[in-house]
Amino acid sequence: MSSRTYYITTPIYYVNDVPHIGHAYTSLACDVLARFMRLDGRDVHFLTGTDEHGQKIEKAAAAAGMAPQAFTDKVSQSFRDLVVAMNYSPDNFIRTTEPRHYAACQALWEKLVAAGDIYLGKYAGWYSVRDETYFVEGETEVGPDNKRRAISTGAEVEWVEEPSYFFKLSAWADRLLTFYEKNPDFIGPESRRNEVISFVKGGLQDLSVSRTSFSWGVPVPGDSKHIMYVWLDALTNYITECGYPDTNNPLWKYWPADLHMVGKDIIRFHCVFWPAFLMAAGLALPKRVFAHGWWTNEGQKISKSLGNVIDPIELAKTYGLDPVRYFLLREVPFGNDGDFQRRALIGRLNGDLANAYGNLCQRVLSIVGKSCEGKVPAKGPLQAADNALLDRAHGLLAIVRMELDEQAFHRALAAIWEVIADANRYVDAQAPWALAKTDPARRDTVLWVLAETIRRVTLLVQPFMPDSTAKILDQLAVPTDSRTFAAFDRELRPGTTLPKPQGVFPRFVEAAKAEN
Ligand code: MSP
Repeated sequence: MSSRTYYITTPIYYVNDVPHIGHAYTSLACDVLARFMRLDGRDVHFLTGTDEHGQKIEKAAAAAGMAPQAFTDKVSQSFRDLVVAMNYSPDNFIRTTEPRHYAACQALWEKLVAAGDIYLGKYAGWYSVRDETYFVEGETEVGPDNKRRAISTGAEVEWVEEPSYFFKLSAWADRLLTFYEKNPDFIGPESRRNEVISFVKGGLQDLSVSRTSFSWGVPVPGDSKHIMYVWLDALTNYITECGYPDTNNPLWKYWPADLHMVGKDIIRFHCVFWPAFLMAAGLALPKRVFAHGWWTNEGQKISKSLGNVIDPIELAKTYGLDPVRYFLLREVPFGNDGDFQRRALIGRLNGDLANAYGNLCQRVLSIVGKSCEGKVPAKGPLQAADNALLDRAHGLLAIVRMELDEQAFHRALAAIWEVIADANRYVDAQAPWALAKTDPARRDTVLWVLAETIRRVTLLVQPFMPDSTAKILDQLAVPTDSRTFAAFDRELRPGTTLPKPQGVFPRFVEAAKAEN
């Protein structure tokens, strides 16, 4: 039987800039879900990539004194490097400058024309190159410096007046509202869903979907003076990957996507424009779009001009990759905005990782190493306290599954760490070191219960911290083919020889600040 598919996508990143924590965050969330679903037996396709067309990129290339293609080749590579540095596990990395993507965009365009949803007109209005977004006058204001900006994003807008093809978005409002109503899980979290619904209820204007004042993009079929609007081009990447327009492509089985993960700033493109394009083209709609919040840096908006951009690779070098991955998904309820504070990162690293999880593994495995001849201890009759702990660890799989289905990473981790805290309390209460003389058989059982609890917990932590958990599972001699959730009930076998234990989560000690 073929397993159920799971197609998950990151937004494709603009190549006008080097990757920062915001990009790392969106991709991390997707990576954890992709890894979880693979462990859970799903046939996963995880896609990320770069958004390389449009005026913003054309300008950035010109500013760098490079031809757009050479420029995008260079910056796109830095997003591939991020994938490696952050240990993401995408199945493919797409670029909108690939020929197959031009073909998909043009095929979709022709479909929209055939459906009667595209007409030629003239655009006259405001445009923000930074946001690659059109604004009506009421959405902008003139600042004290006499410059007009979009109120919602703060980006400067310019007046654009040129021939343009339009997509009949206005005609889709009712069908979109019906779709949201029938598919209450389409948009998460709830607050974003409400925001999208009220935006659509406010009425939709037709959308300008081509430009003539620059050339870096996909030409409109049959009218190559026009370049497709970069958002129509960019959104299409999700179906290019599956082979569109060739629905016999083996990857077409992944469409519709199970989840488009996005930041809150790009929800309208994914929840209004994209479903309207797809409906007009007669294609299935993605099952869910989840919008996460934004990070600030120690209370300040992150921006290049403030010079406070957080480099995720530098963070991983300083604090360790897995602790950073853990922190980003544990610290802030997923969906909310969050403030990045080094203090909080160090607190989690030393508290949750070194003291709680690391210490549990370390003390259990080192007693086992010393007292049980380095073998999985013998399991005797279980007492109520043993069963209570094992049952809680067992129950975690269902809890984590449920929480991740709702993209509630923070709640999944909190539930796992509650069991880690229980296990640490159990060590203190059972005091295995004291049982060595009085009741060695009971000591072995207690150690077995603990080692088995660590195994269960660690299987579930794998998607979040792949390297550290691999080390812990190695130390428990869990065979690599027993690390999926299908093997969740495959208990540790007493007598199995274990390698020498080693600490996995060192404490982070801050270098003393030089006095001045
Ligand atoms: N190219 C478009 C997406 C097209 S998808 C068909 C784009 N690219 S982006 O590079 O500007 O942003 C990509 C993602 O990074 C967005 O989801 C955005 O929300 C996220 N972040 C950028 N800065 C961020 C923070 N400071 N905090 C969290 N995420 C943020 O938009």
